[in-house]
Amino acid sequence: MRLLTAAVTAMALTLGATSAIAAPVEIKFSHVVAENTPKGQMANKFAELVAERLAGKVEVNVFPSSQLFGDNKVLEAMLLGDVQMAAPSLSKFQKYTKSLQLFDLPFLFKDIDAVERFQSSADGQKMLTSLESKGLVGLGYLHNGMKQLSASDPLKVPADASGKKFRIMTSDVLQAQFEAVDAVPLKKPFSEVFTLLQTKAIDGQENTWSNIFSKKFFEVQPFITESNHGVLDYMVVTSAEFWGGLDADLRSEIKAALDEAIAFGNGIAADKANSDKQAIIDSKRSEVIEISAEERALWVTAMKPVWAQFADEIGADLIKAAEASNQ
Ligand code: LMR
Repeated sequence: MRLLTAAVTAMALTLGATSAIAAPVEIKFSHVVAENTPKGQMANKFAELVAERLAGKVEVNVFPSSQLFGDNKVLEAMLLGDVQMAAPSLSKFQKYTKSLQLFDLPFLFKDIDAVERFQSSADGQKMLTSLESKGLVGLGYLHNGMKQLSASDPLKVPADASGKKFRIMTSDVLQAQFEAVDAVPLKKPFSEVFTLLQTKAIDGQENTWSNIFSKKFFEVQPFITESNHGVLDYMVVTSAEFWGGLDADLRSEIKAALDEAIAFGNGIAADKANSDKQAIIDSKRSEVIEISAEERALWVTAMKPVWAQFADEIGADLIKAAEASNQ
């Protein structure tokens, strides 16, 4: 009888071990934007590559449009193990590190190529490790593009923004940026922006062409100023606990697929910005306002003092290095 019990126990253990090995690792990838955006496309490409190469071993399930977690909750959820990957905008890490505030400084990068040069530099790559003490691992940067200003009235010079309410991401730098032009910034989740604009609870917001297009902000904002005043990029992150718990070979295969998906996303970001801008113009729902060099200079003069306000938190040397990437 004892022998039989031992045999049954051994069999159960073997079966248990076999089924534990057989169960694929699930990566829930949560994001807040539409699928037809650089981030949405990148996440889908990652899921596709993993399905092709690691079938049965790893499964990536993508949850777009804040279906699983909104942008202000996803990092907490990641630390609790409820989601394994996300790519929040660089503006949404303030609670975890001050250095990434760099990317929010207005008029720091002249275009996305300058952003790319900085992110690939030693300084930029080092910033991927800035979340380590908080239990998060930066796996790479992903581009969306330069931000534009949309509003219910035309914005040509900083005085036009005075007294107006703008939705911002949860970033003190962005708050200071709008306060610098006497506007009223309100920190709100991305999933609420359309309704806030539609109901006129706010007057405007800042975002990229692909977000303004895919989330239909242009249908409820009659004017979009092509300001290119800041960048909206992402960091793809995971938790140290999840990442460190993976078998080393599997981890490097997942990372290879992710790097390829990021390169794909970065490759389409600029084209997407151009085509979505054109689609907005063609819709005739919103007027795209081009500002003159003189008008732009007024925005720069008004907003650039924000750099000095945050230089200590971010690091003056880092700001200099980022500025140098414009050359
Ligand atoms: C926003 O909140 O406006 C953006 O960060 C959304 C996104 O992920 O692009």
